[in-house]
Amino acid sequence: MGQAYAVTAEFYDLLQATEHLAVTGRLLDRWLGRPEVGVLDVGAGTGLATNLLARRCAVTVHAVEPAASMRAVLLSRLAGQTEVLPRIRVYARKVQDLGLVGVADFAWCLNTMAGLDLSDRAAALRALATALVRGGRLVVQRPPSRAVAGRRDLPSWQLGGDRYSGEVTTTPVGADRVRWQFDYRVSRDGALVRAETEVFDGHLATESGFDAELAAAGFIVVGTDDPDIVVAQR
Ligand SMILES: C[S@@+](CC[C@H](N)C(=O)[O-])C[C@H]1O[C@@H](n2cnc3c(N)ncnc32)[C@H](O)[C@@H]1O
Repeated sequence: MGQAYAVTAEFYDLLQATEHLAVTGRLLDRWLGRPEVGVLDVGAGTGLATNLLARRCAVTVHAVEPAASMRAVLLSRLAGQTEVLPRIRVYARKVQDLGLVGVADFAWCLNTMAGLDLSDRAAALRALATALVRGGRLVVQRPPSRAVAGRRDLPSWQLGGDRYSGEVTTTPVGADRVRWQFDYRVSRDGALVRAETEVFDGHLATESGFDAELAAAGFIVVGTDDPDIVVAQR
């Protein structure tokens, strides 16, 4: 198996950024407030939220992203943006290994926890709690509570006459795991030009179970939002 996100990084923004930015903007309008210490973007991916966070805040944004392919897109997104570059620091490591203390009063972690098993989630939430000052806010997307077998289309886009499309196939694995297969396609005049696939393994957690994990790490749940968002205070 290759590096995680080695295939997906190419297609992530083209297929998903429009929807993703709409959700991120709505959530930040409601939950960001006015950070005064710093901001954490955990599982920063291609930097869609990193960029918005840096533009909305006057403090340093700490972007945590272990996958080189996703970091490459993130750094390309930031290239030349001289107004935000001085305030974005990128960490090429897992959140479990973050090792920062009291650097932020707002933390953001979307679409990332589902990739971690129970023990890695515990380490991740501990690291987040340590990196936040007391009273700091965490906005985190829960892992799914159940997996239903099926497939769904990703948004598709025309690019120079070519159609870029994708689909996700969900397969439950045992009682508490799930496998997502992402199939990406480039087609021209209805004929397939190129196809790529990447598979991700995920972990399920019940809502009450994840709330308990947050509590064990020192967080108090203060709100919820869609999709599967928990807001917690350190
Ligand atoms: C599905 S992407 C989501 C990216 C971004 N948060 C978004 O919503 O667009 C998940 C990201 O989390 C990163 N990731 C996976 N395990 C991680 C970990 N242990 N610590 C920090 N980031 C991690 C992956 O490399 C990937 O870029």
